[in-house]
Amino acid sequence: MILITGAGGQIGTVLAKALRKKHGADQVLTTDIRHNDLAGQFFEILDVTDGVRLLELVKEYNITQIYHLASILSAKGEKHPIPTWEINMGTLLNVLEVASKTGIEKVFYPSSIAIYGSETNLTLGPQFGAQLPTTVYGISKVAGELWCDYYFKHFGVDVRSVRLPGIIGSGTLPGGGTTDYAVEIYHSAVQGKVFECYISEDEKMPMMYMKDAMRAILQLMGAPSKDIKIRQSYNIASMSFSPKEIYASIKKVLPDFELVYKPDFRDRIAKSWPDEIDDSRAREDWGWQPKYDLDAMTKVMLDSLSKQYLIK
Ligand code: SER
Repeated sequence: MILITGAGGQIGTVLAKALRKKHGADQVLTTDIRHNDLAGQFFEILDVTDGVRLLELVKEYNITQIYHLASILSAKGEKHPIPTWEINMGTLLNVLEVASKTGIEKVFYPSSIAIYGSETNLTLGPQFGAQLPTTVYGISKVAGELWCDYYFKHFGVDVRSVRLPGIIGSGTLPGGGTTDYAVEIYHSAVQGKVFECYISEDEKMPMMYMKDAMRAILQLMGAPSKDIKIRQSYNIASMSFSPKEIYASIKKVLPDFELVYKPDFRDRIAKSWPDEIDDSRAREDWGWQPKYDLDAMTKVMLDSLSKQYLIK
């Protein structure tokens, strides 16, 4: 059975559905620190900083795979640096420890474009090379990647990871990230509201449509172990755009949509991340290939959100 931590979050909610579809509803245990309506057939409250409780659940449900999504993201993390470090690192170490002690078959760990910092190549973030993040979230992801590699090498834990860019989907809202604007902008557009953008107009960040992110995670986790040659984390890329570009993409469909720029501290975080990242290793090693570009994503986002707001 599969255990998902942080299953009530933006990615966890969608991933739980995808894993239920793939493996069967009775094969997925969703967990989170609080109950949520989308929780499926099997749900348990779990604060992953509690390693004893994690171990209990792994034994009780005969867990063989863990998808560890619980984390504090980049923008929220800057408001609470020490708790963010403790939560992000403590939970990962609990997952890796439990995995090594109980012989869990596979672990998924999402890393992030936040591992980069202003000293890196900010045009095309490399797979390997200087990683000098400026946020606590980024620091925890760099350390997290290294711990994953350590547990693979020393204890044989089959842990796999991708560095996710900003993820955009219509079904769930992100919380506490720097890339969140790229989801919120679509909600404003379909509601006919003027969007206040906290990122400056030319600041590009790597982004990805949710469906591509799901395919990446399932493909990585389904690949033969011998094909996973990088045990820190793989760069995966799809599209990259600035607020000006996503605004223009939406305006092609909704010409009256308006936006004003009010950059805040999140713009500084965005400026410390690369515009694009080099994902050639993921393409070579396990066949990563994105499907959606900006305009294709805009179309499905606006279609789907228009229906949602009509129903409401
Ligand atoms: N979406 C994340 C954030 O903005 C990046 O991993 O924090």
